[in-house]
Amino acid sequence: MQLRTAFNEWGSFTKGKFAGRQWLLAKWEVCAGVVWPQEKIDIMLGLVAQRLDLKAENSFIDLGCGGGWMLGGLKPSVGFAVGLDFSAQMLQNAVSIKATDALVQGEIGRLPLKDASFDRALCYFVLINMMDDAIVERAIMDMLRVVKPGGRLLIGQLPDQARSADYDRAKASYIDFCRQSGDLGDDLRDVNRMPQKLFDVPKLTGFLQQSRIGYKKMPSFNPFYRPGESPTIEWRFDLLLEK
Ligand SMILES: C[S@@+](CC[C@H](N)C(=O)[O-])C[C@H]1O[C@@H](n2cnc3c(N)ncnc32)[C@H](O)[C@@H]1O
Repeated sequence: MQLRTAFNEWGSFTKGKFAGRQWLLAKWEVCAGVVWPQEKIDIMLGLVAQRLDLKAENSFIDLGCGGGWMLGGLKPSVGFAVGLDFSAQMLQNAVSIKATDALVQGEIGRLPLKDASFDRALCYFVLINMMDDAIVERAIMDMLRVVKPGGRLLIGQLPDQARSADYDRAKASYIDFCRQSGDLGDDLRDVNRMPQKLFDVPKLTGFLQQSRIGYKKMPSFNPFYRPGESPTIEWRFDLLLEK
């Protein structure tokens, strides 16, 4: 599959020196050598942990865990942490930073997991690459299937198509900020981008209502956060699904 190949290649490019870094939120940041301050990572992981209400007795799975940097950061908050990804190279990167208690290679939509296996599940910045609505809907149903009754699934960083101009503005301003702080060279350009879906919010929430899935739509973590800015943004949203 083409997308999996692209992630395997990215995993090879980032292994070693980039493993464990925040890289997948913005590919160009990795290529330009931008490193997020720990404060920013702490805010992001804190927001995720709070929304998922992570507890020491929880079993937790990160679906589309990539190189495992979020998984590694959240692992101390739960009893048992598992990462799943369809890219073997991404999983190897997660192994190299000892991000987790167990890793599974598998595809969201056809998860090789039993029903009701986990108390908490995270799917962060993954559905953005699923271009077809039917594939997104199948992915959501499959992820919910593996969550226990009473459990939670947080789907993070869904770009709102109605707010894409706000995203472009925020990105331009962040690039300026990085340039001024000396993090970026003059030759910054967008590296070959993965396909990225913009979400039709009424259509997606209509699907959840029709499927009788309880959800909360909330602002997402601001990947362009810098001191003085809001830590959350409206141009991407998160869905918290409670089963
Ligand atoms: C943009 S990265 C995000 C990684 C991580 N969640 C993060 O936020 O740093 C997307 C990850 O999802 C994985 N992925 C994409 N589609 C998938 C699918 N259908 N099943 C399993 N993994 C998938 C990719 O291999 C990649 O590691």
